[in-house]
Amino acid sequence: MATAQTRASSPADRSQAAAPALDLIRPQPYTDWQPQVSPATAAALRRELEQGCVLYFPELKFHFEPGEERFLDSRWSDGKSKNINLRADSSAVRGAVGSAADLAAMSALVRRYAEYSEKLVLTLFPEYGPHMKRAGTSLRPSEIAGRPVSWRKDDTRLHVDSFPSNPLLGQRLLRVFHNIDPDAPRVWRVGEPFGDFARRFVPQTRGMWPGQAWLMKQLHITKRRRSEYDHRMLQLHDLAKADLDYQAQVPQQEFHFPPGSTWIVFSDQVLHAAMRGRAMMEQTFYLAPKAISDHTHSPEAVLSRMLGRPMLAG
Ligand code: SIN
Ligand code: FE
Repeated sequence: MATAQTRASSPADRSQAAAPALDLIRPQPYTDWQPQVSPATAAALRRELEQGCVLYFPELKFHFEPGEERFLDSRWSDGKSKNINLRADSSAVRGAVGSAADLAAMSALVRRYAEYSEKLVLTLFPEYGPHMKRAGTSLRPSEIAGRPVSWRKDDTRLHVDSFPSNPLLGQRLLRVFHNIDPDAPRVWRVGEPFGDFARRFVPQTRGMWPGQAWLMKQLHITKRRRSEYDHRMLQLHDLAKADLDYQAQVPQQEFHFPPGSTWIVFSDQVLHAAMRGRAMMEQTFYLAPKAISDHTHSPEAVLSRMLGRPMLAG
């Protein structure tokens, strides 16, 4: 399924031949959003997910209701936001334009995806249930290649997800993606394991100065006080994106997620870049760190070990 096809114009692709290969994609046979899995299989899936693999479901389709295909068009986007979003506590999408009936139909579509994704995660990982919170759901109906964005927002560069204004205080980011484009693949790159990435860049990161977390909260730069964990993760995100040699030379693999396929990743752990693709849906879950059974590879554990103190203390 993976191909070596690249875009000649992308700096990240230039010396891909020089980048050592990697295989982090773990195909799964399931066709149902509430699949029957044995406890042994569920445990194996969880291990792979927590190690930083991509659980890939080539045959797990999300079906449209009649008329919903029309939402696969960037004209529904308000032009300001990157995505059309549904918050977990809200009944209406944001970032979209259309009549009241269109917006209601779009919200129903996005909410249905949220419900299917939640069923999938709870079926595969029942132990996560008590520690998991449904966060945003997005419909991304615009081509990602060639978007004019700053390097920091450029998701065609390998990165781990981390948000400047939304400190997660160590909560993990578990995401369920679905390529809802009927024709074109969604092309991703995935990069080296988090531990290797951290070894390379953590020495260049800094802690916060006294009062910084408080001040950023006061000035509404952040929604809540940023922890050192968030501060370091954000620097790792930026350091990776800013370094074009790293982008080209890090061990990586390109993967084409075909139309109608689904995949699950910890996006705060797996280095990823979205190179091309026209339409996707995505569900985010926040997961308390204590839900993780294998702490060898989780970002918070890696950073705590490297820096010699717990990352989530302040
Ligand atoms: C990202 O999370 O970096 C983007 C994923 C995508 O849009 O395919
Ligand atoms: Fe990302």
